[in-house]
Amino acid sequence: MAKILLKLSSTVPFVLTILSFFSIFAIIESKPFSRNLSPSSLALKREKLSHLHFYFHDIVIGKNPTSITVAQAPTTNASSPFGAVVMIDDPLTINPDFNSKLVGKAQGIYAYTSQTEVSVLMAYNFAFMEGKYNGSNLSVLGSNSVLFPVRELPVVGGSGVFRFARGYAEARTHSFDSKTGNAVVEYDVYVFHY
Ligand SMILES: *[C@@H]1O[C@H](CO)[C@@H](O)[C@H](O)[C@H]1NC(C)=O
Ligand SMILES: *[C@@H]1O[C@H](CO)[C@@H](O)[C@H](O)[C@H]1NC(C)=O
Ligand SMILES: *[C@@H]1O[C@H](CO)[C@@H](O)[C@H](O)[C@H]1NC(C)=O
Repeated sequence: MAKILLKLSSTVPFVLTILSFFSIFAIIESKPFSRNLSPSSLALKREKLSHLHFYFHDIVIGKNPTSITVAQAPTTNASSPFGAVVMIDDPLTINPDFNSKLVGKAQGIYAYTSQTEVSVLMAYNFAFMEGKYNGSNLSVLGSNSVLFPVRELPVVGGSGVFRFARGYAEARTHSFDSKTGNAVVEYDVYVFHY
């Protein structure tokens, strides 16, 4: 009896090892690296086209700046901003008035990338807070020649209701204060999403 027990106790760990080996295999096998899916399996129905319109407030100087220079080159100065990197958490409002309804924030960075014009590379998210868009985001990555009347920035993706988003944003300067550098920019965003 004792001999059998001894035998069992020595085989149990072995059996467990074998079992866990197989269960690891089972887990690996149930999640392949890639597979084809039908869009309906992700509950994707018809693609929609949405147009969003709002105003972006870039406050460089004020009681609560929303736009902060976090790095610059030794050669960066006011007349040659090339090399400056700016972090933003800019409010998006329904009207040009800063105190009008807040519909989201533009969060990310822009960096001065041209030695010959005032042009920035922008990489940021529109984090929306309004209605069915609350908690959903759009990601924007593009260049912005800020003195041009209309700039076009690609929308490269999104989350929440904006999953699989692609489209573009048109930016038009609504007002610019040359003393402070504060700007209000009108945005029209056109996106396909599900
Ligand atoms: C600003 O920087 C540029 C390029 O580095 C330089 O040519 C220019 O003289 C500087 N201007 C001032 C006002 O310092
Ligand atoms: C947006 O969602 C957050 C978190 O779910 C909630 O606290 C907030 O009240 C919502 N805002 C609006 C405007 O619906
Ligand atoms: C959208 O961005 C906000 C702010 O960064 C974040 O809290 C939220 O989780 C994001 N939503 C999704 C669906 O990723």
